[in-house]
Amino acid sequence: MYRLLFSQVLRRLDAEAVHHATVRALALLSTLPLLKRLLHRALAPSDPALRVTAFGVHFPGPLGLAAGFDKDAACAEALSAFGFGHVEVGTITAHAQPGNPRPRLFRDVRRRAVINRMGFNNAGAQAAARRLRRTRGVPVVVGVNIGKTKVVPESEAAADYVTSAKELAPLADYLVVNVSSPNTPGLRNLQAVELLRPLLAAVKEVADSTPRRTPLLVKIAPDLADDDVDAVADLALELGLDGIIATNTTIRHSGETGGLSGRPLKERSIEVLRRLRARVGDRLTLVSVGGVEDVDDVWERLLAGATLVQGYTGMIYEGPLWASRIHRGLSRRLRRHATTVPELIGRTAPDRSQG
Ligand SMILES: Cc1cc2nc3c(=O)[nH]c(=O)nc-3n(C[C@H](O)[C@H](O)[C@H](O)COP(=O)(O)O)c2cc1C
Repeated sequence: MYRLLFSQVLRRLDAEAVHHATVRALALLSTLPLLKRLLHRALAPSDPALRVTAFGVHFPGPLGLAAGFDKDAACAEALSAFGFGHVEVGTITAHAQPGNPRPRLFRDVRRRAVINRMGFNNAGAQAAARRLRRTRGVPVVVGVNIGKTKVVPESEAAADYVTSAKELAPLADYLVVNVSSPNTPGLRNLQAVELLRPLLAAVKEVADSTPRRTPLLVKIAPDLADDDVDAVADLALELGLDGIIATNTTIRHSGETGGLSGRPLKERSIEVLRRLRARVGDRLTLVSVGGVEDVDDVWERLLAGATLVQGYTGMIYEGPLWASRIHRGLSRRLRRHATTVPELIGRTAPDRSQG
């Protein structure tokens, strides 16, 4: 049904207009407690075999929505009701900003991909905090992804992230430092260990100071050289971070300017996951994202050492029931193999880290 709607109608409409209409509809749904609860009962993962615990947080299923869809924390509850095991909101910056000029979101239907150069359009950390403080009608695990405000120079980046962290860490189930989006000039330079160390250390101090100690992760680009992936992994261990999210979109493509997501990203995303697992073993939680489309993909990432898996582009092509269908299919496969998600994690990964 969604495929028909997509091929006949949605793909002919402006991608960003469809996106905003969807977020508005989901935000409206978030205000309708009964419908939200009914949907949650029908669609949210409920099989105990799907449950997984990471950095002290309980997730009802391993598949979550990647950052960039719910940039302003407007509809996380509705997304949870549609079957996502967690929702990563953001990227949120300390100050509100409009992002890049439109058009800035493009579908590449043939390759099952998307290119975006949104540029962190969002209403800022205070507005997001107000939304996150609203009481919740259905259970939802919310990760909060923070980034640098565009006009803030690199030399003041750490202070800018700290402003967002102070506002949002107390409201987050986990916090993510995003240094890997390609659409804020210079942002990815912050992945260099000399710049990343003080930045992560400063945000960690804030995350550690919340009443529950908020888990902290860093999100990296697929375009890092292998040695740099290792260097970030070592740094994450050194600083006592909780995990790494790999990967963001890639700039290695020949289409519109911007970051490419979806199927073409799959191979490199898995490669980075395997590399990270070989380096850190189970000492960090690895969250795998990039080109996840179906149950096979989730299964493969879990075996390769991911504790959690995320997707965004898959939902654009498969529709709102995407996460629910994957969790259901995963549940059936787990039963056939008489196993559970926690038992699968890292089963095909190399024995132990050398690091
Ligand atoms: C339209 C769009 C906007 C995105 N915005 C963000 C963002 O604000 N912050 C972020 O960390 N990642 C962002 N991403 C990257 C996704 O979170 C994810 O890492 C990437 O798309 C790969 O996953 P996928 O192939 O399942 O889409 C965005 C992706 C898309 C398609």
